Amino acid sequence: MLLVMLACKRLYAYLLLSRDRGTVIQKGENMLVTSKELLLDAQKNGYAVGAFNVENMEMVQAVIEAAEEVQAPVILQTTPSTLKYADPELYFANVSAAARNASIPVVLHLDHGSSFALAMRAFRAGYTSIMIDGSKLSLEENIELSKAVADACHGGNIPVEAELGKVGGKEDDLVVGLDNPYTDPQEAVRFVEETGIDSLAVGIGTAHGIYKGEPNVNVERLKEIRQVVSVPLVLHGTSGVPDQTVRECIENGICKVNYATDLRVAFTRGVREVLSADQDVFDPKKYNAKGREEVKKHVMNRIQLCGSAGRG
Ligand code: 13P
Repeated sequence: MLLVMLACKRLYAYLLLSRDRGTVIQKGENMLVTSKELLLDAQKNGYAVGAFNVENMEMVQAVIEAAEEVQAPVILQTTPSTLKYADPELYFANVSAAARNASIPVVLHLDHGSSFALAMRAFRAGYTSIMIDGSKLSLEENIELSKAVADACHGGNIPVEAELGKVGGKEDDLVVGLDNPYTDPQEAVRFVEETGIDSLAVGIGTAHGIYKGEPNVNVERLKEIRQVVSVPLVLHGTSGVPDQTVRECIENGICKVNYATDLRVAFTRGVREVLSADQDVFDPKKYNAKGREEVKKHVMNRIQLCGSAGRG
């Protein structure tokens, strides 16, 4: 049964891959690049690329303008719930149009891809980096799913991030418990070898959403993983993690740092400020512009923390 399912997945991937993807991943004509070279450069030079979750056009503009202003490579990403809000084709069109006017490398990444089908949907839409998140599955099932996605995406030169261990908190639409969140280093070695993935999201005690207390990030565990795993490592759940801890994580092998909640909070703060100051305002441009400004300021600040300014 498992073999039949795997064969069907492969056939589906082949059919998708054999379709003309147009110019979507051609650097130069289209400014979107894949995350592969960016993360390897970050790994080599000891910094991290900021990865920012976007929900709407203003957040896309804010992230790209912020990265452009400080000349940093940047990753924009969307979760499955964002892709329920609007199609991946819409985000692709929006991000690639905004990237065309920028001089820095821009990646469009699927964050927490929840199924093979969604990963292929984003791939087809032109996303230049894909995450498959099988961390809630057994190790064997996670390996099988992550490998199937990596095999399919690599056929189109698109790199794949996968997760082992757990990032707790409110992850997209799901609440994830933290009974044993930590990535096991030896399992990580096997996972990376058997799946062929390009980067690994690790569980080291961070959580998505708003922290109730001080996050307890296990940098020692990160060091252990770094010693045995060669692919770039990814930190999830970074909103609310103290700057010094983020710096320590980057010093110890984190090459991609994810921020979602912070951007949502910043956007909403800006919108709320305008709406509550003026009850008569009805033009979305007025309040969205303030949301955009707040996101841009925050992203510039996070890029400085990641050490990626000037690396674009
Ligand atoms: P935060 O919402 O905690 O910033 O987490 C973002 C994230 O890891 C997206 O995958």
